[in-house]
Amino acid sequence: MKGLILSGGAGTRLRPITHTSAKQLVPIANKPVLFYGIEDMARAGITDIGIIVGDTREEIIGAVGDGTKFGVNVTYIPQDQPLGLAHCVVVAREFLGDDEFVMYLGDNMLEQGLDTFIAGFMAAREASVTPALGGPTPTPRAQILLAEVDDPSSFGVAALSPDGRSVVRLVEKPRDPPSNLALVGVYLLGPSIHEAVAAIEPSARGELEITDAIQWLIDRGETVRHEILSGWWLDTGKKDPLLECNRLVLDTIRTDISGHVDDGSRVEGRVRVGEGAQIVNSTVHGPAVIGDGTRIENTHVGPFTSIGEHCVIVDTEIDNSVVLRESSIVGVPRLTESLIGRWVEVRPAPQRPRATRLMLGDHSTVEIGSDA
Ligand code: TTP
Repeated sequence: MKGLILSGGAGTRLRPITHTSAKQLVPIANKPVLFYGIEDMARAGITDIGIIVGDTREEIIGAVGDGTKFGVNVTYIPQDQPLGLAHCVVVAREFLGDDEFVMYLGDNMLEQGLDTFIAGFMAAREASVTPALGGPTPTPRAQILLAEVDDPSSFGVAALSPDGRSVVRLVEKPRDPPSNLALVGVYLLGPSIHEAVAAIEPSARGELEITDAIQWLIDRGETVRHEILSGWWLDTGKKDPLLECNRLVLDTIRTDISGHVDDGSRVEGRVRVGEGAQIVNSTVHGPAVIGDGTRIENTHVGPFTSIGEHCVIVDTEIDNSVVLRESSIVGVPRLTESLIGRWVEVRPAPQRPRATRLMLGDHSTVEIGSDA
């Protein structure tokens, strides 16, 4: 079985971060989102992985390399324009050949590993041809992952057969949802999907939709299985879910202090302090991670905070935030629920004249504090 990870796309919902970098490389607990997906595939025994890349290809290739560090073999597949998830299957045709594959959205994170998802499919296929296990029954050709959600109308939604065993219909963002089962960004597909993606037309938003391609398989009489997700699932392509994901992953870390914590500092709870980092006259209240070579001085780092590599945080209080590498934050009384990019400088305004000076990229959001 092969893997196909989608790491192209526009990333409009994570601007301005995505003006200059790939959203799949935004770190969660100081590790790029994309790495979690690759590691998940490797754990499930998938070692032949294709990665779809768009405008940010250089950066992704630079970060992932040939896959050796993950124990996998990576092939990069360029997609000139983000024309949809099914379009990714079209451009990956040669890499995929006639193999089955797991398709995974590069900005999604799942608590559950891929191994149970794949094992469920294999077991169902085995059962479909084994009389002692209830067969012969129609052999599943594809599988989707579903999560129970409160508001199905903002997702792709699946309708199941009356016995609940197979998927009969997929609808994108339905006004009147047929169930509360939303499609999660993980699919197991076989070679018949190539015929499907060639047969469908672009949707109203101009994309080749994978839901339309899977619906095409169902309409042709193929059996599409589903698994229900256990554990959490987040799309990190927007700020608040990204911070939520950071919280969930930090909740699982173990303490590991490689850098230097001076006598005037306190480190409480589960905290990782990277190599060459310095904690000076500060408190770090975990769960939190401090990147290699970062200096934390006269500062309180509160829970659920990830500070990237080679940052400088001085005279500041920060919690529930993600700061990317090489940024400096000085003299901020309380920073919370923030996502700060690379090479950002946040510093106090001069005392007089009292004024705020900003240089912000397009699509930035700043909430300025006021005592009034
Ligand atoms: P989305 O988050 O649905 O789309 P997007 O990346 O264009 O983001 P936004 O809506 O904020 O502009 O994409 C899910 C994943 O699939 C993401 O990792 C990008 C990737 N993708 C591709 O590689 N090619 C595509 O054509 C599309 C639509 C997405």
